Amino acid sequence: PAAIKSKINKLISLRDNRVRVFGWVHHVRDQRGIIFIDLRDGTGFLQCVLSGDVAKTYEALTLTIETSVELVGTLQVVPEGKSAPGGHELSVDYWRVIGAAPGGEDAFTNRFNEKSDPSILADLRHLVIRGEKASSVLRLRAMLLSAFRASYARNNILEVNTPCIVQTQVEGGATLFGLNYYGQNAYLTQSSQLYLETCLPALGDVYTVQESFRAENSHTRRHLAEYTHMEAELAFITFDELMTHIENIICETVDTLMQDPVSAALIQELNPGFKAPSRPFKRMSYVDAIAWLSEHKIQHEAEDAEGNVIKDEAGNPRMVDHVLGDDIAEAAERQMTDIIGLPIFLHSFPAELKAFYMKKIPDQDSGAGLLLTESCDLLMPGVGEIVGGSMRIADYEELFEAYKREKMDPSPYFWFTDQRKYGTCEHGGYGLGVERFLAWLANRYTIRECSLYPRWPGRATP
Ligand code: 4AD
Ligand code: MG
Repeated sequence: PAAIKSKINKLISLRDNRVRVFGWVHHVRDQRGIIFIDLRDGTGFLQCVLSGDVAKTYEALTLTIETSVELVGTLQVVPEGKSAPGGHELSVDYWRVIGAAPGGEDAFTNRFNEKSDPSILADLRHLVIRGEKASSVLRLRAMLLSAFRASYARNNILEVNTPCIVQTQVEGGATLFGLNYYGQNAYLTQSSQLYLETCLPALGDVYTVQESFRAENSHTRRHLAEYTHMEAELAFITFDELMTHIENIICETVDTLMQDPVSAALIQELNPGFKAPSRPFKRMSYVDAIAWLSEHKIQHEAEDAEGNVIKDEAGNPRMVDHVLGDDIAEAAERQMTDIIGLPIFLHSFPAELKAFYMKKIPDQDSGAGLLLTESCDLLMPGVGEIVGGSMRIADYEELFEAYKREKMDPSPYFWFTDQRKYGTCEHGGYGLGVERFLAWLANRYTIRECSLYPRWPGRATP
């Protein structure tokens, strides 16, 4: 009888039918003449059983891992006491090899394993992604992005696509990748924020999911040279509303994932103890955070005026207490979230630590002499900063003062400035690092595992 072609994850409704599946041999074992294949097709795994004549061919006896195959047979519920993915197995009556994979020295299993050197794993990323963990992370990533998009749609926020090739900076000139653009200077975008701001009067609240590029010489487990940046911009809001919105988008998205059995199972597999965070998130001002860090004896590396780490005679960095005006670096952030164990909004950072476009807090009483901004970073346990956001300077004159203070030439920003000229409004937004968010959700040690083909200093291949 004719067989029904199906992907593995859709087989449940086809039990007792004759079905045709395609995929790759994930595992194969021969048990006294019966060959068991774990077939993988990207949507799931299926146990396929070859017995009798179909198990006695040359192809069957020499079948290797990663060979691509077509299999036809009856889909049977596995007998009581036995287990198989999905609770069923394919009793194969016809099969063929589509593309054989080598055995021997060049066999897939000889190329790498979990203990291989990280640089080998990075070179073989195109093969590593076939693994169970790596593919689960990437599958969850896809579901995360569609859950975020659903949350934005429910909140009436429109998706736009912003350019990658730009002629302005957003987060400081030091981390720009430059390129020769038909003889002009251009850069790979660091953030789509300024473009999103121009969309507000045209389209209302907007968001984008776009690659951002940072020429940072950071070899940490949470920095990439290219990362996926989810950014949103909202008009006519207050700073408090901005933080509440960020909290809601994150919690709604996590709820969506936990309610879907497929994504819930992926989270369970990758991060067994995961619990959705509860609202409202803890909020702590920058001034209070500095006090908290010194109370908890969390220190940072001392730097000289040029920003070089000061070392003692033994070559160890000199550690000093945090004082007002200090940046809160990655290590301190991590220790903070490890102790508190919950998402934390750090807010109201000094202007000198932050980007040019941030709105100043109107009432500066709590500033302890610092010029503070309506800015916030969301820190997650295990990762640290996953979101950076702020209210933006809405006033035309004030924006020019900011350009001047930062020694920026206003002319390339004419389009950004015009947003303040033609009907300005209070507005704010944020950027969320998708790989960092996923590292938190899926409990990955480094965000390199959360990108399909990660880029970091020195690496742009595969
Ligand atoms: O804090 P950042 O630099 O903020 C901005 O770019 C704002 N213009 C965003 C906005 O308001 N629209 O970056 C935002 C987030 C960070 O919190 C972090 O999660 C992620 O982007 N990020 C990186 N992720 C991976 N590798 C890097 N090098 C990253 N730099 C920032
Ligand atoms: Mg930031």
